[in-house]
Amino acid sequence: MAIDYAEKIPNNVHLADDRKLQRALEHWQPHFLDWWKDLGPEGFQERDVYLRTATSVDAKGWATYGHVKMPDYRWGIFLADPTPDRRIGFGDHMGEPAWQEVPGEHRATLRRLIVTQGDTEPASVEQQRRLGQSCPSLYDLRNLFQVNVEEGRHLWAMVYLLHAHFGRDGREEAEELLARHSGDVNNPRILGTFNEPIDDWLSFFCFTYFTDRDGKYQLLSLAESGFDPLSRTCRFMLTEEAHHMFVGETGLGRVVQRACEVMNELGTDDPLKVRAAGAIDLPTIQKYVNFWFSSAIDLFGAESSSNAANYFAAGLKGRPDEESFEDHLCTDATFALEQPREDGLGVLTEEIPMRNAMNAVTRNAYIKDCGIGVVRWNRAIRKAGIDFEIKLPSERFRRNIGVWAGFHFDPDGKPHSQTEWDEKLYDWVPSHEDREFVKSLMVQVVEPGKMAGWIAPPPRGINNQPVDYDYVRL
Ligand SMILES: [Fe+2]
Ligand SMILES: [Fe+2]
Repeated sequence: MAIDYAEKIPNNVHLADDRKLQRALEHWQPHFLDWWKDLGPEGFQERDVYLRTATSVDAKGWATYGHVKMPDYRWGIFLADPTPDRRIGFGDHMGEPAWQEVPGEHRATLRRLIVTQGDTEPASVEQQRRLGQSCPSLYDLRNLFQVNVEEGRHLWAMVYLLHAHFGRDGREEAEELLARHSGDVNNPRILGTFNEPIDDWLSFFCFTYFTDRDGKYQLLSLAESGFDPLSRTCRFMLTEEAHHMFVGETGLGRVVQRACEVMNELGTDDPLKVRAAGAIDLPTIQKYVNFWFSSAIDLFGAESSSNAANYFAAGLKGRPDEESFEDHLCTDATFALEQPREDGLGVLTEEIPMRNAMNAVTRNAYIKDCGIGVVRWNRAIRKAGIDFEIKLPSERFRRNIGVWAGFHFDPDGKPHSQTEWDEKLYDWVPSHEDREFVKSLMVQVVEPGKMAGWIAPPPRGINNQPVDYDYVRL
């Protein structure tokens, strides 16, 4: 599909043919830009950044690279090409033609799904807005901004759907997406985790590895939606999302690698000596993994959920890669749900209707995906001759939502009393001192090619540029 670059808003949705919609978006655009300037990356708005910009949905080449000032970034609206004669692939409407317009009976639910997804996009930009002040390299600074501008584009993607398909209340919701702010006591972002600032880079890498990956799985579920414009929007967003996961996986991998190098240079596995040498010790990295993983799996919601069952039945939200399942109706199937015994000291299994278990099914796929990077990090640790293994904690650990919430299970999945829990918690998640230590390392490095002492350089640069390329011109 051709894109009209002459328009104010790059798009492949024939915006020029719909004057009313175009005007609505052109009205929203300056509000978006004001938001970006106020709450986007702090201190770098006037700098040239080497950014990827989506210009089409062609699998062979959908983006261009070049230096651009972030407020001039071409945030566009791109939907994946339509699948001819697409049918709803699951639930009670299975086999019916996919909806091109919102069905009246699902209007409120779809709007809520789109608004909730849309709200996380600007939220993450707000959470990360101060990280530029402490970047470990220009390469990493550029990757941060790439993630940020693309989260901005994902907001555009959701706002387009609201404007194009939800009339007046859609336009109001689009304004609200710019009015709520991460951490604002009076008007916070919808999901709790998106109200915590991210002020160190180890947390940023954990966020892009674990929380962005939750986003990937939400998008995969919505890509199955019977509401075709939502499906097509999400399919294209997933293309960009892959880079966000890459930033997390390689970022954490480079922190691990640096820890191993320092351990071998000093001939020690003493975490205090590693810290004294200016690197982040492996046990501390494990604590951050425990913290972020357990927060991220809460985002999938309760394991047994009537909302999830309703979304599935209605054809609004499927399972990631729905095609890979045999049974798309799930009217008779059950799911073996592990849960704590009432006394919290043991575990039992209950069969629940499969439709109610859709959150658990999606979360299990997510957990498997999280394991891929962990295997790679452990391979690097072994290769360095070090006896340490990074592990994802048990899904029972530190949960605030679902069947495990309110109980005390450790990262190995073993139950504990309240007293033991209180005593041991900071053996498992970062303590105040751990966080202060990590923060003490966060000193800005902006000389091309140079890296902060706590992170190894990447093996290669972005888009075939060298590692010491001037990714951000200061
Ligand atoms: Fe996103
Ligand atoms: Fe993302």
